[in-house]
Amino acid sequence: MKVLVTGGLGFIGSHMCVSLIENHDEIVIIDNLYNSKIDVLNRIEAITKVRPTFYQFDVQDVNRLEEVFKKEKPEAIIHFAGYKAVGESVAKPLMYYENNLDSTFALLKMMEKHGCNNLVFSSSATVYGVPKEVPLTEDSPVQSATSPYGETKLMIERILTDVQKVHPEFNIAILRYFNPVGAHKSGLLGEDPNGIPNNLMPYINKVAVGELDHLNVFGDDYSTEDGTGVRDYIHVVDLVKGHLLALKKLSEEKPGLFICNLGTGKGTSVLEMVKAYEKATGIKIPYEIKPRRPGDVAENYASTEKAKKEMGFTCDYTILDACKDGYHFQVEEEKRRK
Ligand code: UFG
Repeated sequence: MKVLVTGGLGFIGSHMCVSLIENHDEIVIIDNLYNSKIDVLNRIEAITKVRPTFYQFDVQDVNRLEEVFKKEKPEAIIHFAGYKAVGESVAKPLMYYENNLDSTFALLKMMEKHGCNNLVFSSSATVYGVPKEVPLTEDSPVQSATSPYGETKLMIERILTDVQKVHPEFNIAILRYFNPVGAHKSGLLGEDPNGIPNNLMPYINKVAVGELDHLNVFGDDYSTEDGTGVRDYIHVVDLVKGHLLALKKLSEEKPGLFICNLGTGKGTSVLEMVKAYEKATGIKIPYEIKPRRPGDVAENYASTEKAKKEMGFTCDYTILDACKDGYHFQVEEEKRRK
């Protein structure tokens, strides 16, 4: 299948591109390099021996997007491009609403105009807001999110649902990610945010290589076993496998709208993550307990029943694998920087 991957040079997008190529799909990448580096294209080529077709522009640019649709005639889209920093979205709501919504509108218009009927959208467990109970199933209530970023995911889910109703020929998979972690085993692809990371795993990676001196644990007084926040950390290679299965479902079963969680079904606390990281790498991660981070929930993890039943999805990797691969990537990245 010919697949357009927006945001294909980002953390999840780049792993997706590798999996698609390994699956013998043809890919076209659009990325504006806002939060990614052009060198990732070379690295995808180094891993797969295939150099993907790449266009550098913003997906909101409907004219350029139309040129790509006319020339490439994609049969499916996987839409990763979007702003994703929760804190930044609170400070710059307009930027988040405009970018995340407009890029989706542009793609939907192209789907209508050029007969591309398959779309996989990167949503987030953030749409469940503060969970009333865990594990979260796809039928758990979606709630007003705690940030403009989360709100864009909720709005886009709603827009996709409405558009699919009037386009029964559209097959749309909304995948709600829990916490993607880990990296490609080659050490060539991973998550390396600019500046001080907001998320747990990239932060621990930087502590492990000595770039930051300790981890701040945000709160140890939650109603969880050890008092620290519990999340469902899924290895990025498993996460992208879920997308391949979703694409297969869209093209073979033509399900219309399909909403599915992508997680492991298992919760891990911050302190358990620190221990796992130390076990996987042999490196001590010093930490200090700090106050809770505003907007954080105590516990969230996925029910994986629907993903298993409807797509045959199961995870191949553990938290230990994710820690090992995340660390390996960080070490290689430091070497490449020198
Ligand atoms: N944490 C720390 N210290 C840090 C960073 C995180 O203790 O330096 C803790 C958090 O308090 C939380 C856990 O580690 O308990 C995970 O935090 P992350 O920032 O890694 O992930 P979140 O669950 O907060 O955020 C993720 C995605 C968001 C999404 C959100 C809700 O990154 O995009 O889940 O689904 F919106």
